[in-house]
Amino acid sequence: MENVPGHRTDDLEYLDSNGIDRDEVSSALARIFNEMIFGDTPLHCDPHGGNIAIRKNDVRREPNFDIILYDHGLYRDITKQLRRDYAKLWLAVIDADEKNMRKYAYNVARITDDQFPLFASAITGRDYRAVTKSVVSTRSDEEKEEISGALGEGMLQQLVQMLGKVPPIILLILKTNDLTRSLDENLHTRDGPVRNFMILARYCSKTVFEEQMETIAQTGSKLWPCNLFRLIAAWSSFMRVELKLSLYEHYISFRRFASLSPIASI
Ligand SMILES: Nc1ncnc2c1ncn2[C@@H]1O[C@H](COP(=O)(O)OP(=O)(O)O)[C@@H](O)[C@H]1O
Ligand SMILES: [Mg+2]
Repeated sequence: MENVPGHRTDDLEYLDSNGIDRDEVSSALARIFNEMIFGDTPLHCDPHGGNIAIRKNDVRREPNFDIILYDHGLYRDITKQLRRDYAKLWLAVIDADEKNMRKYAYNVARITDDQFPLFASAITGRDYRAVTKSVVSTRSDEEKEEISGALGEGMLQQLVQMLGKVPPIILLILKTNDLTRSLDENLHTRDGPVRNFMILARYCSKTVFEEQMETIAQTGSKLWPCNLFRLIAAWSSFMRVELKLSLYEHYISFRRFASLSPIASI
């Protein structure tokens, strides 16, 4: 019942005049919503810009702001299996691995092969052709126009039909996903969508790693030769993603520091 006033996340004047780093706001929002999707906390059921606010925190230095979430009337739990399949779907998207994208799109939302291109565009907000290359780059104005054009040319009807068959919890996850993307775009961050993709990739690889650990634990002691081998394999593939992400994070910091031109893909 406490009154917790704040400013909209797209109030750039408020953020800039208070020395609040927009990139940090965008990353914090990505972490909050990914935690609700992949962590053990339930997911806020009405994720939209009006239910989020920012306020300066004069006590804490890093970050020097708080994010306020309003409207806690309804939350949903996401099952572990769905979380894991969704994580694998995103890892496939980030790897541009179409075979696994199709497999996990089916597992997550029963998306058939013919519905897949539309679904891939719906979850990434990208033109399908971009999805099979790299979704990490910033959307060009041309691409945004092409998508709105296609929606006007009958794709909207197909989209509505497809989304009508998707389980409500998936729609909620898609909505959350769309929200973080649009918040990031409206914040006009220096790093573009790359950093939020990395936050997402970390949550996904951690989710998959935890599943592998659980499977190993179910088949007996971790020290059995065969399990030990599986443990090392799971750990090294997790570390490979971690290493790739940290290297990339360093590269971004360096690029920002050196003010190099933006890159198109990873
Ligand atoms: N505890 C609060 N402190 C300050 N403002 C609030 C608080 N709760 C809600 N609001 C403001 O009122 C608006 C509407 O409240 P909300 O709980 O989102 O209801 P609705 O279901 O109508 O969307 C919010 O977007 C926010 O701006
Ligand atoms: Mg509200």
